[in-house]
Amino acid sequence: MSVDTPLLAAVIGWPIGHSLSPLVHGHWLRRYGIHGYYIPIGLRPENFEAGIRALPRLGFAGVNVTLPYKETVLNMASTISDRAALIGAANTISFKPDGSIHADNTDGYGFIENLRQNEPDWNPKDGPALVLGAGGAAKAIVSALLKAGVPELRIANRTRQRAQNLVEIYGARVKVIDWNKASQAAQGARTVVNTTSLGMKGHGSLNFSFQWCGSDTLITDIVYNPLITPFLAEARDRGLRTVDGLGMLLHQAAPGFHHWFGVRPAVDQALREAVLLG
Ligand code: ATR
Repeated sequence: MSVDTPLLAAVIGWPIGHSLSPLVHGHWLRRYGIHGYYIPIGLRPENFEAGIRALPRLGFAGVNVTLPYKETVLNMASTISDRAALIGAANTISFKPDGSIHADNTDGYGFIENLRQNEPDWNPKDGPALVLGAGGAAKAIVSALLKAGVPELRIANRTRQRAQNLVEIYGARVKVIDWNKASQAAQGARTVVNTTSLGMKGHGSLNFSFQWCGSDTLITDIVYNPLITPFLAEARDRGLRTVDGLGMLLHQAAPGFHHWFGVRPAVDQALREAVLLG
């Protein structure tokens, strides 16, 4: 490609209006003075496959994939990273020179990097983790926590079978906890994470009692709207350390940006502000 051809990437979903990814990548493109564009593309399910296949011919280096396509995009990939294969979903797609698709999943990476950046003393190996929820996001987080070395992973979900399914995938280090005993299961845990949609604006609230948490239990939430969920606010009131969920979104975007635009981007306060201010 000639020097004046802009580099292109996108986020694909349906609907797509809510995605914050264009703000994240737009900030980095400006910051690093890169001649490129990152755009939201809404593709209806009937247009998804043809739409994706057209993108490399239009000059796109890759795309992020969001709801509802994170699983189905794997059917189109010619290569799949180990972590995406294990999770059964991808969020970061790169086009190879022949137009074929490499699928990766950076959600778990984003989750771990967010905790490492905001709580440098946090070591997942120090104690069990308690995961609330067993949906798509939980899968990536469970996988990443296990890889990071948690000695035991306790998981509680309203629909117990979904938690049980993760034991089938990840093995005996994962222990299923009754949804109504989730609070007690924080005893001895180093890490507690909410991966459910509870606490999100317009959703119900998470009923969790922090009395079983120790003073070194780190509390985190993947919900970032509001930034400080009632779950995080109550943990803070009890003097526990907390990390909000926005950083996961920012960190999961970094590998794609690096790959498509050639710069390893910084996740810092300026980026947070850019995204929060919209
Ligand atoms: P995602 O892929 O974004 O994680 P999801 O797969 O629909 O979304 O998962 C949402 C999670 O929030 C699930 O763990 C879900 O529990 P169920 O598996 O029982 O559906 C959880 N969740 C959503 N609403 C809930 C509620 N009112 N009470 C308890 N858990 C809830």
